[in-house]
Amino acid sequence: MAHHIVLLPGDGIGPEVVDATTTVLDAIGEFSYQTELIGGIAIDETGTALPDATLEACQQADAVLLGAVGGPKWDSTDPRRPRPEQGLLGIRKGLALFANLRPVKPLTALLDASPLRREIIEGTDLLVVRELTGGMYFGKKERTEERASDENAYSRPEVERIARVAFRAARRKVTNVDKMNVLEVSRFWREVVLDVHAREFPDVTLDHLLVDNAAMQLISAPSEFDVIVTDNMFGDILSDEAATLTGSIGMLPSASLGEEGKPGLFEPVHGSAPDIAGQGIANPLATFLSAAMLLRHGLGLSAEADALESAVDRALEGGLRTRDLGGSANTDEATKAVLEQL
Ligand code: NAD
Ligand code: IPM
Ligand code: MN
Repeated sequence: MAHHIVLLPGDGIGPEVVDATTTVLDAIGEFSYQTELIGGIAIDETGTALPDATLEACQQADAVLLGAVGGPKWDSTDPRRPRPEQGLLGIRKGLALFANLRPVKPLTALLDASPLRREIIEGTDLLVVRELTGGMYFGKKERTEERASDENAYSRPEVERIARVAFRAARRKVTNVDKMNVLEVSRFWREVVLDVHAREFPDVTLDHLLVDNAAMQLISAPSEFDVIVTDNMFGDILSDEAATLTGSIGMLPSASLGEEGKPGLFEPVHGSAPDIAGQGIANPLATFLSAAMLLRHGLGLSAEADALESAVDRALEGGLRTRDLGGSANTDEATKAVLEQL
């Protein structure tokens, strides 16, 4: 039977990159798609960023492919107004997707597309393991006329399970990133990581960096990293920073995974890019590479995943460059270039 994929195109360039990706997936295998609403478009059509029907469809899916949510139309500082991002946070929580994997492997063809020097980037092959359903994103929120706060809390099981994901993914070492010199939650986080290491993974090398230092090392010595494990907030920031190593935020894929056997969600790391939405010029490669992660982690189709990744690689070797990479190819041309390599 065809694998069942729920598509959540969302807002801005989301539908553009998701459309391009189903074209590519159709060249690889047989998939059945079901498109559902999320984000700003869901607010417009149903009044909520995550309609029940969307969550239910995702729970029944083999895997979920998401574009992006958000845009100026729905931007407001009023806590009573619905926000597109609530849809994304809601689906992550609703599917219990606690582990967000963001691989950063600059492709050889793009070593000169980054603002950083080739010598700095060469040899970089790292994975950011970001905790995705806890921390400041999901803590208690308070707001009065004169004060506002977001609680930043982690429980022991939450830290243990993300630490295990990181240790299992490590080839050379795990770098834990926190702010334990200041935050109580980070001191606790570090203790639990050390504990999991000592009890379950004593053979894996473990080191620690404070997040400010990590932000610096990530662009001064990125090839030193293997697996980075960090909380929800720090992981969000560090992964956009790491995108610079690949040449563009338009290149970075992600997988969000929960318990074994439950559907994962796959999405580019970038947002809805309101500044270029509707022009057909978005770089679809981050979404293609997210689809490769969907094939590998979501459907167990590793040969197909390899084929897609290598087609992207060869298209770039062949000279494909979208605008964000300093070229002039539009979304359709980028899609054709990859299809030709498949
Ligand atoms: P963004 O990632 O949307 O855009 C940042 C910059 O990168 C822009 O200049 C944009 O044009 C460029 N860019 C991003 N993706 C690109 C692509 N595929 N090809 C070419 N250029 C690309 O970040 P932002 O502007 O801070 O956020 C815009 C909206 O997206 C906000 O509402 C934000 O909340 C939302 N957002 C959503 C997600 C998501 O759905 N996963 C992720 C990040 C931001
Ligand atoms: C991401 C995005 C989201 C996040 C937003 C849109 C809620 O920036 O996936 O990186 O902060 O997690
Ligand atoms: Mn982000």
